Formats: sequence, structure tokens, C-alpha cells
Amino acid sequence: MGCTKLETEQPEQPSQLYEEIQRRLSVLEERNLELVEEARRVEGEKRFVEGELIRLQKELKRLKAELERLKAPPLIIGQIKDVLADGRVVVKSSTGPDFVVNTSDYVSPELLEAGARVALNKQTLAVMGVLPPSLDPIVIGAEIIEKPETMYDDIGGLQEQIVEIREAVEDPLLRPELYKRVGIDPPKGVLLVGPPGTGKTLLAKAVAKQTNATFIRFVGSELVQKYIGEGARLVRELFDLARQKAPSIVFIDELDSVGAKRLELATSGDREVQRTLMQILAELDGFNPLGDVKIIGATNRPDILDEALLRPGRFDRIIEIPIPSFDARVEIFRIHTRRMNLDESANIDELASKADGATGADIKAICTEAGMFAIRDGRDVVAMSDLERAISKVLDDGDQKALESGPMFA
Ligand SMILES: Nc1ncnc2c1ncn2[C@@H]1O[C@H](COP(=O)(O)OP(=O)(O)OP(=O)(O)O)[C@@H](O)[C@H]1O
Ligand SMILES: [Mg+2]
Repeated sequence: MGCTKLETEQPEQPSQLYEEIQRRLSVLEERNLELVEEARRVEGEKRFVEGELIRLQKELKRLKAELERLKAPPLIIGQIKDVLADGRVVVKSSTGPDFVVNTSDYVSPELLEAGARVALNKQTLAVMGVLPPSLDPIVIGAEIIEKPETMYDDIGGLQEQIVEIREAVEDPLLRPELYKRVGIDPPKGVLLVGPPGTGKTLLAKAVAKQTNATFIRFVGSELVQKYIGEGARLVRELFDLARQKAPSIVFIDELDSVGAKRLELATSGDREVQRTLMQILAELDGFNPLGDVKIIGATNRPDILDEALLRPGRFDRIIEIPIPSFDARVEIFRIHTRRMNLDESANIDELASKADGATGADIKAICTEAGMFAIRDGRDVVAMSDLERAISKVLDDGDQKALESGPMFA
């Protein structure tokens, strides 16, 4: 259209012609700029839409995969009983008879071994995958992941015992070359023995906090189960877990609940507890070498422990945790009054000498009790008199109880 206009309205003068061309040129340039701008905008939009397309395609793929996953038939859990020479395997599932089945190409042959837990196709029972061995929830819960807050300096008066336990448990794990050079097997485990409330569990907690090894803890009574053979299975699984996670430390608290002497006249329940103990003995020096697994046991009744547990080669080191001496009591009082708001009148040495025969747990109770007395009086400072009252309350109560029930700790 512009061209026809140019042709029909011929200006007479060249200068006019020139101006006209100039004018049209600038119009066209402006238009060009607009179009370039437009093109850029459209280009941007195109890129955005393309991006969106890719995103939606990915989403579609993800949803399709999810749909596939949800529609996939369930797999049956089974166990391999035998691997045949031609590559097929004999499996046992809960359905009853044993089957000879093929295996998926995706399963690596070295994982196929007798006893492995496998997932089977529902129709053909072909082996679709090998599963990790199952562990009992009790066993899984035994590994300490959140370490307790106890430090070695929260323990009063047990410096020697701390050194001993670290020597026997941590050094073999962290510096095995020491033992190799001398040519001896490192000790397998230690047994902490001492009256109730003297800090055995506390010491183990500090080891758990400070060690770099995996710490697996359980209480002996947890192993006493309802069904025959269950306790022994738990022990085996616990030690399997410890071996898997080596270097590791296994702590068995209240060992006397499973480690009591085996007697002739036992009920069926006792016999089950004894089976559990035998499994512990077998783990301690059985066919599966313990390697980088160390054991700490704790008990306040060493007198009733089975001799087999105590013989050398099992708990080879017995660490005695005594009732705290005067100096130890001073330290324990310091530890437990560290965060307390004490009056100037409070004299730790005098308290320690008054609390003769108190255990660590008693001293902790004394401090708490003294705080309670102060609160009852509406004070926020604990005075010496509160502590003295607490000592007589806690220790005299304790004596009373001891008289009623007879001495527990021999
Ligand atoms: N030596 C100690 N230093 C500081 N506190 C201690 C000490 N011994 C015991 N306690 C205090 O007493 C509490 C109980 O101690 P712990 O649980 O270690 O006793 P235990 O020896 O395992 O007793 P049990 O044989 O009854 O299991 C601890 O939480 C701690 O507060
Ligand atoms: Mg304890």
C-alpha cells in the first residue's frame, strides 16, 4: 500500500522527495523497532511455554510412575532354602510347600544364598529382589542415636574406673595396633558391679556419649520374652546388629535378670531365661568372631551371676564400683550442687562427712530434697540447714527400708 502511495503522490521537488523518504523511513524504523520488541516478547513467551511443557511432561511421567507403583501387585516374602546348580532357587514362603523358582535378572547372583530373605512374584514366585535381614523392633530401638548428655566429669569419685573402662572398651576399638604389637587378643568386655545407685548406668551413659563407636544398649529384662526361643533370637539379632555397625559397644544393663545361676530345679520360664543366657555366652565366644564389638555388662548382684559368665574370656575385666568414699562424696556433692543456688553457709566437706555411707543416687536425692525444702519455705536459695534435713530424711528413710527388706546387696 505504501508503494502505491509513493507512486501516485509523486512530489515535484527532489528536496521534497528526500524529506518524504526521510519521514517514511523513520516511520518504518519505528515500526521495525516495535516488531523487534514484539518478536522478543513472543520469543520469551515461547520459552516460558516450552519450560512449562517440560515441567508438565515430567509431572505426567512422575504421576504415571506413581500409578504404576500403586497398581503393582504385592510381592510375597519368602526365604531361600537352597540355590541349585542351574541358577534356580528353592524358596519357602508362608503359603506352605517349597517351590523351585527362577530369579529375576536384576538380582545379583551373589546375594542369593540359603537363608536370605527375598521378595517373590505373586503369580510365579520368581525371586524379584533380596531383602535385608529383618531385625526385631526391640533390636532396632537398642541403638543409641541420640546420645545422652552425661560427660565423664558428671561422675564423681570414679576416676580409676573411668580409666579402666576406657582402656578395656575404647582403646581396643580405636587403637587395635597396640594389642597386635604385643600379640594378645584385646579384652572382650567388662562387667561393672557395685551396689545400686553407685553410678554403673551413669558410667555407661558417659561412655556412650564420648565414644565414636556405635552404642547399643539394652536391659537384660527386655530379653525375657513370652515365647520359647524368642529371647535367644533377640540376643543373636542384637549381636548381628553390633557386628554390622562395628566398631560398636554393646551395653547390657541389669545383667542379673538373664545371667542368674542356672539351677537344677527350674520352671519352664526359668529355662527360657537360661536359654537366653546361653545365647549370650555363645555370642561372647562362639563361632562368629566378635571383632570390633565390645561388651559392657552392669549388675548389682554379682553374687547370683552364673560362673560361666564370669570366667576369663567373657567378661574378662570386672570393674568394681564401690560405695563412694569421703572424697568421692565431696565430688558427687559438688556435681549435684553445681547448678543449685546455694547459701554461703553450705559447706560441702561437712555434708560429705555427714552423709557417710550414701551412694551417688542418695546424694542426688539429698540435693533434690534440700531444694524441695527451700521451695516449701518460699525461698530460692538452699541453705545448709535444708541440706542437713535432707540428709537425715534420705538416709534415715533408706535405713528404715533396708531394715524392712533385709540386705539386698551381698
Ligand atoms: N559417682 C556418681 N557421681 C555422680 N552422680 C552419681 C554417681 N553415682 C550415682 N549418681 C547419681 O545417681 C543416679 C543413679 O545412678 P545409676 O543409675 O548409675 O545407678 P546404678 O549403679 O546403675 O544402680 P542400679 O544398680 O540400681 O542400676 C545417677 O543418675 C546420678 O545422678
Ligand atoms: Mg543401673
